[in-house]
Amino acid sequence: MITEQNGVFHIQTDQYSYLFCIDEYGVPEHLHFGAPVQTGDAEALRCRPGLGWGSNVLLKEGDTASCMDVLALEWSGSGRSDYRETPLEITGSASDFRYSGFEILEGSAVMTGGLPQAHGALETLHITMEQPGARLHLYYTAFPTALTRRTVLENTGDAPLTLGKLMSFSVDLPGSYTMATFNGSWIAEMRRTDTAVQESRVVNESLTGASSNRHNPGFLLYEAGATETGGRVYGFNLVYSGNHYASAQRSHQGLTRVMQGINPSHFAKKLAPGEDFETPEAVLCCSDEGFGGLSRRMHTFVTDHIIRPYWRNRPRPVKYNSWEGCMFDFNQHRLLDLADRAKDLGCELFVLDDGWFGARNNDKAGLGDYNVNTKKLPKGLEGLSDRIRAKGLQFGLWFEPESVNPDSDLYRAHPDWALTDDFYPVYGRNQLLLDLTKQEVRDYIVEKVSNILDSAKISYVKWDMNRHSIALGAKTHDFVLGLYEVLRRIFIPRPGILLESCSSGGNRFDLGMLCFSPQIWASDDTDPIERLAIQTGYSYLYPQSTWGSHVSATPHAQTLRTTPLSTRGNVAFFGCLGYELDLKHLLPIEVKEVKAQTAFYKRYREIFQYGTFSRHALGWQVSDGKTTLAGVFHGLVPAAPGYERLRLVGLDKDKTYRVTSLEQTIRVGQFGNLLKHVAPVSIDPNGQLLRLADRHISLPSGTEAMTVSGAALMSGILLRPQFRGTGYDQNQRTQGDFGSDLYIVEEIEA
Ligand code: GLA
Repeated sequence: MITEQNGVFHIQTDQYSYLFCIDEYGVPEHLHFGAPVQTGDAEALRCRPGLGWGSNVLLKEGDTASCMDVLALEWSGSGRSDYRETPLEITGSASDFRYSGFEILEGSAVMTGGLPQAHGALETLHITMEQPGARLHLYYTAFPTALTRRTVLENTGDAPLTLGKLMSFSVDLPGSYTMATFNGSWIAEMRRTDTAVQESRVVNESLTGASSNRHNPGFLLYEAGATETGGRVYGFNLVYSGNHYASAQRSHQGLTRVMQGINPSHFAKKLAPGEDFETPEAVLCCSDEGFGGLSRRMHTFVTDHIIRPYWRNRPRPVKYNSWEGCMFDFNQHRLLDLADRAKDLGCELFVLDDGWFGARNNDKAGLGDYNVNTKKLPKGLEGLSDRIRAKGLQFGLWFEPESVNPDSDLYRAHPDWALTDDFYPVYGRNQLLLDLTKQEVRDYIVEKVSNILDSAKISYVKWDMNRHSIALGAKTHDFVLGLYEVLRRIFIPRPGILLESCSSGGNRFDLGMLCFSPQIWASDDTDPIERLAIQTGYSYLYPQSTWGSHVSATPHAQTLRTTPLSTRGNVAFFGCLGYELDLKHLLPIEVKEVKAQTAFYKRYREIFQYGTFSRHALGWQVSDGKTTLAGVFHGLVPAAPGYERLRLVGLDKDKTYRVTSLEQTIRVGQFGNLLKHVAPVSIDPNGQLLRLADRHISLPSGTEAMTVSGAALMSGILLRPQFRGTGYDQNQRTQGDFGSDLYIVEEIEA
C-alpha cells in the first residue's frame, strides 16, 4: 500500500516500510527503509539538525534545519548547499529540483525508453520535481519483498541541455555500513569483497560496456554484526546490462548516502527541448534477518518479477552441451553419438555450442555467418535437429549475434556494421562488436536468428557475447538498448524457447539480461571447488534457477584440479544441471554414477531449481518446506579431521525429520597402496589389475540415516567422522580431498 498523509509518503508491504516526507522547502527527506513502521512514526524517524554543525549554507537564512548538507535526503541537487555526491548533473548548470506533485498508480508506470522492466508490481508512487527548464520524475514501485526506483529527466526549456549524470536513485540511510561487492574476472566471477563505508567514497562500477564480471551491479550494505541469520542487510541491484555505477559514502553526521544508476563516464546525453531520458530500474531490498533473509527476499523478487512469467517456476531441462567435449571439432556422426549417450545418461536437452556455421573452425573466423557448415553437418541443422529430437531430446543452439570476426562474409559485405574505435580497431577474441545502434544491423540479426530458430525447431538458445573491454563512448547506452530491442523482437514471440545468456561465462550476469533469459551461464569455470565460491557469490542476489551449472571432466581444464564425480554433481545440482564433457570417455563406473545423478536431480528438480536457497556454514541447502536438500562440501582434507556440525536453517523446530545421505562411492584406485594390505592377493598399485578394477569397482563411502527434530537440526547435528587412516567402514565418510555429501532431510509424522 502507498499512502500520502500531510506530506509523508509511506510505501508499505508486510515485509518493509519505505518512508519519506516533503519538507517546507519542497525537498524530499528520507525517513526510513526497513521493517514495517507506522506513518505516525515520521517525526521520530526524521533528522533534527537543531542548531546545525556550523559552516552551513541554508535554504532560508536563520533556519538551521534548512541545511540540505546535514539532512537525510531522498534526492539531491548540485551546487546548492548539499556538498555530498550528487545523483544528477546537468552540464554547466546547478540542479535544485523542488517538489511539485505526486500520483499513486496501480501496478507499474510503464517505461517507454526501451529498457526492460520488472513486472507484477503492486503500486507506483510518482513524484514530480521542477526547476526552471527541467522536470524530474521519481518513480517508486512497490513489490512484496522489494521496491524499485528510477528517474526520468525531461527538458521543459527551450534550449538543449546535456545530461552528464542521472542516477536511478539516491538515498541517505542513517547509520554505518560495510559494502559487500561481487568482483572477479573470467572464470573467477562473484568473489565477495567487503569494504567499510567511511568518509571516503566506496564505488562499485563497470566501464567495460557490459555489466561485467569485474564488478557485478548487485551489492549489499550491512550493519556491524550482521550474520547469515540476523542483523540489518540492504541489497541493491540494477535492471541494466551496460556500464553501471554505485557509490556509498558516510557523512560526518553519520548518514550513508548510497546511489546507483548508469555510469556517468562516457554517458553525456543531449536532450532537445521536449525530450526526456529514462534511467533503468534499481532494486532496493532490506532485511533484518541477515544475509540469508536478504537473499531470500531478493530471490523472490527475481523469480516473481524479473523472470518472464512463462519460465517462472517452470522446470529447466537437464542439458548436455557440446563445448568442452568437442570445442570446434565435430561432425554429425560424432554429435549423434554424443546425443545417444546423453539420452542414455538421462539428459533432456542437447545443445550444439560454437562451431556449427560458416568457416568457424576456430575462434579466428566465421563469426557473423550463421549459415550451417555442411561439411560438418551434411543434413543441415534441420536434419540434425530432427534426428536429435527423434531420440527424445530437445535441441538447442549457440549464437553470438552481437559480434563479428573480420574474417567473415558478413564483415566483408558490411565492414561499416562493425564498431571500431575512433582511432584504430582493437580486437577481443579476434572479433569486433556489431553496431547495434544501427537499425539495419538489428534487423539483420533478428531476421537471421529468427529464421534459424523456426526452421530447425529449436527449444533452447545460448546467446553468447565474448568481446570485452569495449569502449563505445557515448554509444554504450544506445548499444544496450539495441541489444534489448533485438532480444525482445526474437524471444517475446517465441516464449517457449529457453534462453540462456552467456558472456564468456558471467561477464553479463545481471537483472537486465534475466528479464529475457531466465538462466545465465554463470561461469566458464566448472571446477566444482571454484564453483563453490562463484555460486555462493551469485546466491546473495540471484536465485539458483538463474544459473547454469555443469559437470565437466577432471582434471579440470582451467585449474588442473582433480575432483570426485560425486562432488562435481553435488555442486552442479544447486542450479540448472548440465553435463559438458566428452561422454565417450566416461568409464563404465562413471556412466553408472551419472545416471544415478540425473535420476536423483530429476526427482528433486523442483526443490533444486526453485526451493528456498540458504547458505550454511558447510555449504548450501534448498528447501520446499517439507524436504530440505543440504550439500556439505570439503576442500583439502586435513589429517585426522575432527567432528563436523551441520546446522540447517528454516526448519520447523517442533517437527521430526528423517535425515539420509545420498549414496556415494569411492573408486578403488583411490586407495592405492592401501589395497596391498587388505586384498587377499598381492596387488601392484600401478599395475594393470588395479587399473582395470578402478574402471569397474567402487566402494560405498558410507551413508547417514537418522531421525531427528527440527530443533536439533537447527541447533546443529554432528556428522559421521571422515576417513582418518584408522580403517575403512560404513560408519565414516571415506572421500579424500574435495569430497562432499548430499543430505536429504524429510519431514515425517512423529
Ligand atoms: C564462450 C562461452 C563458452 C563457449 C565458447 C564458444 O567462451 O563462455 O561457454 O560457448 O564461448 O566459443
